Amino acid sequence: MVSTHPTGVQHSGSQYLPQSWDTNTNSSPNQELLPLTARVHDHDLLEIGGCDVTTLVEQFGSPLYILDEETLRSACQQYRDAFKQYYKGESQVLYASKAWNCLAVCAIAASEGLGIDVVSGGELYTALQAGVSPDKIYLHGNNKSREELILAIESGVTVVADNWYELHTLVEIAQPDDRAIRIMLRLTPGIECHTHEYIRTGHLDSKFGFDPNDLDEVFTFVSQQPALNCVGVHAHIGSQIFERQPHQDLAAVMVQWLRDAGKYGLKITELNVGGGLGIKYIESDDPPSIEEWVKAICEVIQAACAAENLPLPKLLSEPGRSLIATACVTAYTIGSSKVIPEIRTYVAIDGGMSDNPRPITYQSVYRAVVANKMSSPLTQTVTIAGKHCESGDILIHNALLPKTEPGDILVVMGTGAYNYSMASNYNRLPRPAAVVVANGEANLILQRETYEDLIRQDRLPERLKK
Ligand code: LLP
Repeated sequence: MVSTHPTGVQHSGSQYLPQSWDTNTNSSPNQELLPLTARVHDHDLLEIGGCDVTTLVEQFGSPLYILDEETLRSACQQYRDAFKQYYKGESQVLYASKAWNCLAVCAIAASEGLGIDVVSGGELYTALQAGVSPDKIYLHGNNKSREELILAIESGVTVVADNWYELHTLVEIAQPDDRAIRIMLRLTPGIECHTHEYIRTGHLDSKFGFDPNDLDEVFTFVSQQPALNCVGVHAHIGSQIFERQPHQDLAAVMVQWLRDAGKYGLKITELNVGGGLGIKYIESDDPPSIEEWVKAICEVIQAACAAENLPLPKLLSEPGRSLIATACVTAYTIGSSKVIPEIRTYVAIDGGMSDNPRPITYQSVYRAVVANKMSSPLTQTVTIAGKHCESGDILIHNALLPKTEPGDILVVMGTGAYNYSMASNYNRLPRPAAVVVANGEANLILQRETYEDLIRQDRLPERLKK
């Protein structure tokens, strides 16, 4: 099998197949793909956060997103600690909540001292309801509505202004007696990076941010608006990036913006380098560690500021995927299968593109294990098919698994980012439940949708009723 990973790199699946669990060492070569607390108990059963996965499915139903609190907290701490270690100025990590925005996840990130990046009124509302302090919330978006901007201003969050239309709208909305609106400016740095074209944002031909050629005009305009308090600049170059160089180039470019802003009398004190650090979805993926990524950026910014004789800005970053992807797995129940002799065997699960649209959208590659057969030999290569009425609804091509039967629990790893947040009700499948697990305790954080939920927004006009 050859499949395209978001990095654009071709992976030959057979080279990187997962191994079964070694019960002598209680570890497996692909353990890095699982949450930190994953272990095998009673010879064959997968446990996460001290909870047996098959029991979680019995208790909360299937499919089920299982979020390991320790892995998420550990990633938050790694970012925080790395900035503390490598950056001499003030820093703030924001969780890019588009990766998975819900009350519990926002609350965990905030409790680790992280701020939250939101991109819509809905994400903003959720972060506020989760108790996140508005001064640590940043609202993004290339086409924010008036209502979203008003909610942001009234809540006191920072608006990351993306374009001229938005700047003019902000000036229009601003009330003469109110405090100036705290904004940052999103600029397009013109940096290419190797990732799937849909998740690349920093190149010049991007829908996001001001064109750097407009810098002079933008800084002039903003410096003349008493209604706007421009505190910083922002850029984000893309997602699932393994190279360090593009982020280092970005950091250098941003320090030049900082220097230029001073010429317009703007007191820019914050610099947000965005997110984008990739994660390991399969064995051959080799992203830098969080610490390496942070160190690389801090070094460039500190050196560039020293060269320009600029004080160090408050350094913001907004990782999403690298904070939460590995912390979550999705457990499915295996049902039907179809053997096509000499061609392939399809093994179907009770979810698919509605709970994980990444394979069909970006040809993303995932790995899976069978939670009730962790140390069984891997004897079959199968195609994991979703249950949607769509031939492309394949979660994993050529998964090497133990012999499976209906009722087995298939666990797909690395599903914390852009799975629940991109989930849909395609074919009117109710969205799965999600639990957070820690120290043997499992708590529901997202209730499973019911059929009643599915028709809650439906209206049947009187004339169509029988
Ligand atoms: N900041 C901004 C402005 C962003 O647009 C993004 C992601 C992030 C931060 C967080 O990037 P991360 O650290 O998660 O790479 N749905 C796609 C990913 C889209 C990313 C959108 N922006 C996927 O499933 O791969």
